[in-house]
Amino acid sequence: MELLHFYNRNLFLLVFDCSEYRRRHMALYGSHDIFRADNQQGSAIRRQSAREAVQDAMLWLKDGNSVAIFDGTNITREQRRELSDYCLNDMGFRILFIECVCEDQELLERNIIEILHYSADYKNMSEEEAVDDLRKKLEHYMRQYEPIDAGLETISFVRVENMGETVTAHKVAGQKESGILGYLSGMRCLPQTLYFTRHGESEYNVLGRIGGDAALSPRGQLYARALADHFNSLPAREPYTVWTSELRRTKQTAADIRAPKRAVRALNELDAGICEGLTYEEMQERFPQEFAWRDQDKLHYRYPWGESYIDIMTRLRPVLSALEDEHNVIVVGHQAVLRCMLGYFLDAKLDELPYMNVPLHTIVKLTSYGYKYKVEMTKLPVECVDTHRKQPKNCSINRTSADALTTVPSHYDTLPSNLWQNSAEAQL
Ligand SMILES: *[C@@H]1O[C@H](CO)[C@@H](O)[C@H](O)[C@H]1NC(C)=O
Ligand SMILES: *[C@@H]1O[C@H](CO)[C@@H](O)[C@H](O)[C@H]1NC(C)=O
Ligand SMILES: *[C@@H]1O[C@H](CO)[C@@H](O)[C@H](O)[C@H]1NC(C)=O
Ligand SMILES: *[C@@H]1O[C@H](CO)[C@@H](O)[C@H](O)[C@H]1NC(C)=O
Repeated sequence: MELLHFYNRNLFLLVFDCSEYRRRHMALYGSHDIFRADNQQGSAIRRQSAREAVQDAMLWLKDGNSVAIFDGTNITREQRRELSDYCLNDMGFRILFIECVCEDQELLERNIIEILHYSADYKNMSEEEAVDDLRKKLEHYMRQYEPIDAGLETISFVRVENMGETVTAHKVAGQKESGILGYLSGMRCLPQTLYFTRHGESEYNVLGRIGGDAALSPRGQLYARALADHFNSLPAREPYTVWTSELRRTKQTAADIRAPKRAVRALNELDAGICEGLTYEEMQERFPQEFAWRDQDKLHYRYPWGESYIDIMTRLRPVLSALEDEHNVIVVGHQAVLRCMLGYFLDAKLDELPYMNVPLHTIVKLTSYGYKYKVEMTKLPVECVDTHRKQPKNCSINRTSADALTTVPSHYDTLPSNLWQNSAEAQL
């Protein structure tokens, strides 16, 4: 069970994956054998897992949520009738079947490779064994398969052929189902790739100050150069687009990447209000109570005259929706904003989000597979400070300054002269 896109979609939805329930009953995946129609024990486990998945889906819907995705292979008319009777007649929820048909050999091969890479069933098998096993599993399914037939079944369905080349709909009703139909019609064949990076180290990062609109430090400028080299030298299969915030440090970081750029206001860093430009030490000295409140509940805490994480999620919503339709976008952003964006794509838990580690001078590459994203982090070899402050043990208002400051990452008190050597501004 996994939470999908927790704060964007109009449809608040959750995926109930039969295979995950099955794996709970069988710690180790044996082989394709359990998918044979005449394997009694295998069938029993699979039926049991499916029942649990459907029951959890029903509970979730009864809680007032709008859409549950039941991820299973209901390939016979009898199975579909059973499922439909249960959901509609017994529980009172509409069910829309989605049949994906793929005859394109190339797409099929790619799909098989994807499953091998990502399915927990094949973690422990050699590539050859796994390919063989998966083909046999498909054969078991093909023997049982009865295509959905509007003449013989009274169900609503959408049929997607060759990953969205042709989409047909039958008895699709209401806004939610139309929305799903729309989504399936716009499905992409190729995996989507998105890149994220924080700006290069800024003068404020060096000094341990938050917020502001500082320029890059000399090391930050080196990162900007390395970042541009990285992207400019990748074989350009498709053109990139760069999205930055409106702040200087992101624009400077993106400057040398050869691609069209857009400055997006909604990507600006969390507004720290009265604490903009302060170090954590100064915050503790001037606003110890605010500092403690923030440590108690970083997700909801809003700086006076500033924003909270929840606030920036709200303003990021349209950007995230737009990004879902994009490919090869490089987002040059800020720590808090990127925590929210990556958390969105990676289904992070909300309360862990403000502590997610998104280090400086690191490229985060997201690649879609199915409805999930895989993440790869590439740290470029340019030194920088660490800006990640863990939640301290003592978050009470009466804590000592020392307790409040235990997790503050080290930083410089003044801009060190050696960091300035290769900066033009050092002459000023
Ligand atoms: C639906 O598919 C799942 C997963 O393949 C299977 O275990 C289950 O038995 C099917 N449902 C019904 C009602 O047969
Ligand atoms: C992988 O296989 C080995 C030996 O067959 C077994 O001991 C191990 O538990 C398996 N690991 C997983 C994750 O299935
Ligand atoms: C500090 O506050 C905590 C509750 O947050 C309380 O348990 C403790 O007694 C207080 N200590 C002092 C010295 O006031
Ligand atoms: C936090 O510090 C205060 C004051 O020193 C102390 O009374 C309290 O017990 C501490 N709380 C925790 C959770 O350590």
